[in-house]
Amino acid sequence: MGKLIIDGGKTVSGEICVQGAKNAVLPILAATVMADGESVIKNCPRLRDVDKTTLVLERLGCGVKREGDAVIVDTRDMHDCEICEDLMREMRSSIIFLGAIISRCKRAVVSMPGGCPIGLRPIDLHLKALRQMGVEIREEHGYIKCSAPRLTGGNIHLDFPSVGATENIMLAGVCASGTTTISNAAREPEIVDLGNFLNKMGANVRGMGTSVITIEGVEKLESVEYTIMPDRIVAATYLAASAITGGEICLTKVNPQDMGAMLYVLSEMGVRLHCERDRIIQTAPERLKSVHTVRTMPYPGFPTDIQSPFMSLAAMAQGTSVFIETIFENRFQHIDELSRMGADIKVEGRSAVVRGVNSLEGANVVARELRGGAALVVAALAASGTTTIGGTEFIDRGYENIEKYLTSCGAKIRRE
Ligand code: EPZ
Repeated sequence: MGKLIIDGGKTVSGEICVQGAKNAVLPILAATVMADGESVIKNCPRLRDVDKTTLVLERLGCGVKREGDAVIVDTRDMHDCEICEDLMREMRSSIIFLGAIISRCKRAVVSMPGGCPIGLRPIDLHLKALRQMGVEIREEHGYIKCSAPRLTGGNIHLDFPSVGATENIMLAGVCASGTTTISNAAREPEIVDLGNFLNKMGANVRGMGTSVITIEGVEKLESVEYTIMPDRIVAATYLAASAITGGEICLTKVNPQDMGAMLYVLSEMGVRLHCERDRIIQTAPERLKSVHTVRTMPYPGFPTDIQSPFMSLAAMAQGTSVFIETIFENRFQHIDELSRMGADIKVEGRSAVVRGVNSLEGANVVARELRGGAALVVAALAASGTTTIGGTEFIDRGYENIEKYLTSCGAKIRRE
């Protein structure tokens, strides 16, 4: 288990060019299998989750190589349609391959994805929708066996605007016969990026970013070159890293228009923000103010993925903040670790009451999942003394070379 060692108290100020979005590149890499040829995916971040996804592509028989910031996927020799248990256990979000593999092979076998540290992560909405599109699905011996001689479009209503379910329906629908309509679709910017990628391949997807997505099935898709959108969660994490230390930071290659709810909360906490088309300049006060209530919601609401890093901000703010986590049932694991650093946080079910303290102390803490790990990094940057953070393999799933970016802005952080 790798460690990050942070000597807190340094102001985090400078400029960061934001990495490509993990939650856009994963479904887009999966979607490359739906065309026969070589896809070039640019602005692809160097992450453990990207490595696992390219491993799935290789196991399916695709050729994968990296050239600079691009990943090149050659699907011409793809010969398999199964994702085995070890890969699925490694990364449950590989379930996003289901719609893509069925589209290409008319069958797919994937191991049940199971849960993860933040929740059970059911896929009932995915399977219900695919069945509505003519996919025969058998769940047996821990595997999901799908066959779909003919994928047919359908009118699908999602009980919850699930990001993954929306993506799987899009992937299954682009080459289905007829029209697929998704109502109560997820509206996340990563869904828009996936839809833009599919349309560049020759698909006909409309309404991405709204609650109703319409897909006209087409015969064939082409492999294309595509540049991934910036990662809005990583961007907000670096804004938090600077804000908690009273710094001034400029983010480039970022989409402020995707970050409205997060920027609103930061402004409420007292930072000054200047936003341009693809950059954000933030100046933080000496001490942040508490935020009355933060409730995580599907986009365009406040993202669940930034709940924990922003809770670290509240832990040192003036006043009391309340965080309500409505999306995942176990996304407060960072609280025990923040408490070891002197944070005053009380959990009541899905709510956490955060009473700001004047200072946090360095301690030995452990990341239990990706964003909770990022929250510990944010807290450690402002804590007095040295913090050792274990579980860097979780943080590296979503943050490219986090110590390099933070060191470039004045933080004292090293990896062991
Ligand atoms: C995506 O997960 C993201 N992951 C998550 O980011 C993100 O937190 C989440 O969307 C919400 O925005 C990727 O894109 C790879 P959901 P996903 O389906 O698709 C319930 C990170 O840190 N649900 O929108 O799995 C589910 O239990 C990760 O980068 C069902 O009940 O999220 C949860 O309560 C973490 N049945 C809620 O919906 C289903 O069939 C949201 O899940 C599917 C989901």
